[in-house]
Amino acid sequence: KKSMPFFGKKVMVTAGPTYEAIDPVRFIGNHSSGKMGFALADELAKLGAEVTLIAGPTSEKSTEALTRIDVISAQDMFNACNANFEQSDVTIMCAAVADYRPKMIAEQKIKKQESDFNLALEKTVDILASMGKIKKPEQILVGFALETNDEENYAKGKLERKNLDLVVLNSLNDKGAGFKSDTNKITIFSRALERTVFDVKSKNEVAKDICNAILKLIK
Ligand code: C5P
Repeated sequence: KKSMPFFGKKVMVTAGPTYEAIDPVRFIGNHSSGKMGFALADELAKLGAEVTLIAGPTSEKSTEALTRIDVISAQDMFNACNANFEQSDVTIMCAAVADYRPKMIAEQKIKKQESDFNLALEKTVDILASMGKIKKPEQILVGFALETNDEENYAKGKLERKNLDLVVLNSLNDKGAGFKSDTNKITIFSRALERTVFDVKSKNEVAKDICNAILKLIK
């Protein structure tokens, strides 16, 4: 009989990029594929969790039974997370949320200009930090960090600042890690600042390691 360690647990996962509209035909986005978040959501569902997957624009498909909410912008993702956070026992924010969005969305397609064109940007809401602020002691909150330099210090800082239980660091300096890759190399930091380094693995295997780290916190 298959063991279901997440049975009875409600888990929310965010995945993929966000698109921030400039005008009706253009947006600011990023190269996140959504693969890591979808692998996590599928693995959690296999382990018995009741999963809500909040996905930015992606061509990924999930293979397990879960509730999927498709969103486009950071604001949409925030709204969906906010509506689902309170009932989530575990929340994993894997999405590559845009940090800035155009201050104004042009109603019509912006025409080519003779001279340079400046686009004014404003900050988006930090979804993870917002959830960290309202988190109850029994809720588990997991964030991701993707850094190109001084990665360990940034990862630890994020754990504190955003009130997280775990932070999963993926390094772009490691071969076989990153956005479009089918593999990833992670280091997990826990609240006690315990540090676990993993080898390069498929994103499905990485998802299992992350689930095990979360299970240690639940027990
Ligand atoms: O601060 P930084 O963007 O590096 O933090 C990354 C973590 O925060 C990821 O878990 C990401 O999903 C989350 N995040 C978020 N909302 C934002 C920016 C990042 O939830 N606006």
